[in-house]
Amino acid sequence: MCSTMNKTEAQEKELVRENTPETPLYLVLTRKEVAEIDAKLEQLFQKQSQYLDQHDSALFTKGKKLRPILLILTAKLNAPDLPQDYIDDKIISIATSIEMIHIASLVHDDIIDRAVERRGAATVNRTQGNGFAMLIGDLQFSEAMNLFVNSLQYQKDLKLLKSFLKTGYNLCLGEIEDYLAKPVLDTKLLRQRYYQNIQNKTAELIEFCCEAGGSLANGTKQQIDLMRNFGRNFGLAFQIIDDILDFIGDEDLLGKPTLGDLTQKRISLPMIYALESLPERNLVRDILEGHATSSDDIIEAARLIIHSNGIHKAYDDACLFKERAISALDNYPKSKYKTALEEMLSLVLDQRV
Ligand code: FPP
Ligand code: MG
Repeated sequence: MCSTMNKTEAQEKELVRENTPETPLYLVLTRKEVAEIDAKLEQLFQKQSQYLDQHDSALFTKGKKLRPILLILTAKLNAPDLPQDYIDDKIISIATSIEMIHIASLVHDDIIDRAVERRGAATVNRTQGNGFAMLIGDLQFSEAMNLFVNSLQYQKDLKLLKSFLKTGYNLCLGEIEDYLAKPVLDTKLLRQRYYQNIQNKTAELIEFCCEAGGSLANGTKQQIDLMRNFGRNFGLAFQIIDDILDFIGDEDLLGKPTLGDLTQKRISLPMIYALESLPERNLVRDILEGHATSSDDIIEAARLIIHSNGIHKAYDDACLFKERAISALDNYPKSKYKTALEEMLSLVLDQRV
């Protein structure tokens, strides 16, 4: 069911006042929708609650909701005449389904990474073991698909479903290739593979959110293509920053331990750029090849990466993707939704999202 409310001038002013430095515009503009998504997630996790402990459910609902927020903002960007308070149930369901898929993929990712902490809480694999965590991820994946399919209405929604399924496939492909990646000497090849993998494992889902936003707002093909372009570049910048934060982030703010990529021998962009400036045989390569494994080795290799220009070069690449994402919005007139999307990108680059 949809609800429409007239927004008065006073409410509009309130909205501007609410946009304090502590509350970014993107959160102010999507607050009501995010509350609805949270409620829907709570409802769905309630069904799973007999299999989860308290920590697990907290972990699932505590995310930043970056993907749902991007869907909502891109939908509003493409339907600027809709009242601020208009909440579309279909958008809420599809955004919730996307968040659920994201959660399922993190549950599986944590099994693969043997991760013990995510979002400041113990991972499901830690509290319940790998086998059970795998089943929980599967359950959430199925729940997400049910929700998505049940919200489809029109012929054109089938196109969106096809795109969603392709995204899920590519997500798995990215994770498989990331898992299998070997530290070959050719760093240009390593970079190409890295970009392909982050495109699949991260950018695809964000790209899909923006496509869904454009499509659910009845955008034209050109607008939907622009949204995909925006989402792809947003996603690439986002994952590069995530990989940088794995070296220099604050564990309390991240809610997970740092240096996970080196520990798990996952090749990331700061490492690749560091490899380019280090002698052919070096500790970073030794770790990636499994010849060095102690925690002292990992700390020393991280020091080498931080002191090489690896982090800076990776950051420059993230800036490039940010610029490309901003350019995808060029054709859109100035609006608070456009400002909010640009602001989100800046906050990602400032490592504050
Ligand atoms: C986190 O990246 C992981 C992903 C973005 C994708 C994980 C995908 C799968 C496990 C495939 C299974 C998919 C479904 C649909 C169930 P990261 O490891 O770089 O980030 P992190 O440091 O937060 O772990
Ligand atoms: Mg991981």
